[in-house]
Amino acid sequence: MTKLKWGMIGGGEGSQIGPAHRLGALADGRFEFAAGALDHRAEVGREYGQRLGIAADRAYGDWQEMLEGEKNRDDRIDLVTVATPNSTHFEITKAFLEAGFNVLCEKPMTMTVEEGEEIVRVAEKSGKICAVNYCYSAYPMVRQARAMVRAGELGKVRLVVTNFSHGHHGDATDADNPRVRWRYDPAMAGVSGQFADCGIHAMHMAGFIADDEVETLSADFASTIPSRELEDDAMVNFRMTGGTVGRLWTSSVAIGRQHGFDIQVFGETGGLRWASEQPNQLIYTPVGGRTQIIEKGEGGLHEDAQRLSRVSIAHPEGFPLAVANIYCDLADAISGEIRDGLPNAADGVRSMAAVHTAVASAKENGAWMDARPSIFK
Ligand code: NAI
Repeated sequence: MTKLKWGMIGGGEGSQIGPAHRLGALADGRFEFAAGALDHRAEVGREYGQRLGIAADRAYGDWQEMLEGEKNRDDRIDLVTVATPNSTHFEITKAFLEAGFNVLCEKPMTMTVEEGEEIVRVAEKSGKICAVNYCYSAYPMVRQARAMVRAGELGKVRLVVTNFSHGHHGDATDADNPRVRWRYDPAMAGVSGQFADCGIHAMHMAGFIADDEVETLSADFASTIPSRELEDDAMVNFRMTGGTVGRLWTSSVAIGRQHGFDIQVFGETGGLRWASEQPNQLIYTPVGGRTQIIEKGEGGLHEDAQRLSRVSIAHPEGFPLAVANIYCDLADAISGEIRDGLPNAADGVRSMAAVHTAVASAKENGAWMDARPSIFK
């Protein structure tokens, strides 16, 4: 099979998410790393790209040069990943979609709802794939949870409770560290701090597993370190279109919690629990029955979970392989086999609408508000 050609913008040396994309994209031999504009410093990006094996003429200095260089090549890239800071996602994603490239954009997809709606329209018009990297949804046991809900194994879902709360910005003496400070500065981060950074992963996951969409929400935001303009802690209650009740807590000052992402789904006939720090197990309790541990790689899993389990039972799989599952689904989609779990631009704009609605609700003492983007009302 000919490998698909992959390029990345951002994700340079020392970046947080770059390595997970490289490991993920290259894990299954479906893509080759053909082009990149990896760093905000042109020469540093060119040099690093070549060190990673990209040909010198495709190790670009910036994304505009990459777009120009790639668009007229016969062997142009089949997919570009946008792994730059948030404020650049919109213009890069839009430009590559308009030029006919498939895009995997990091979250949050855009800064505003209007930009998000524009990306949905541009993606539709181009006929190209615009995926968004809600990679936690690609863990095999998260796919198992979604499949169990879809198969009716929990009955109707009544309640989803999710947390994405860590303690890594809880040290007030480190609050002025530039790597921390920008996340709570509206000029750099936008309208929301912790909710836009981590809360949207939890909210996407709630909709993903419950197979439902957020309709209304009420938010309480707090800046527990007073110098912070944006929130470092948020509690968001929500209701989904199908009637599911949602509770979400996200925090960056929960000292002692590490990654801190977990979700519980409670249906009429059973409950599920999944946690990102034990991603290979799904805890299931049928009503009136014993609690069971469902293991990644065991027999009898739903097809989607089985397909994305890479190594045999009890061998841990983790974050880079969840990202690899996104790339697997993308490779299938580019080859014409659309995978319905793949997070897309509609998910991206729903998140942006939830962020802006949560900010507005928190300002109004938690007033309940419609959280849907206008294109989906
Ligand atoms: P980072 O600050 O660690 O790295 C950013 C990289 O992008 C650096 O290599 C920088 O040189 C490069 N860069 C900046 N501007 C650029 C430009 N205009 N052109 C080319 N390269 C440029 O940032 P991090 O944490 O890796 O985050 C990047 C994105 O990934 C963010 O949108 C963030 O929200 C997202 N992210 C997603 C995660 C997930 O679980 N899906 C986890 C961590 C980050």
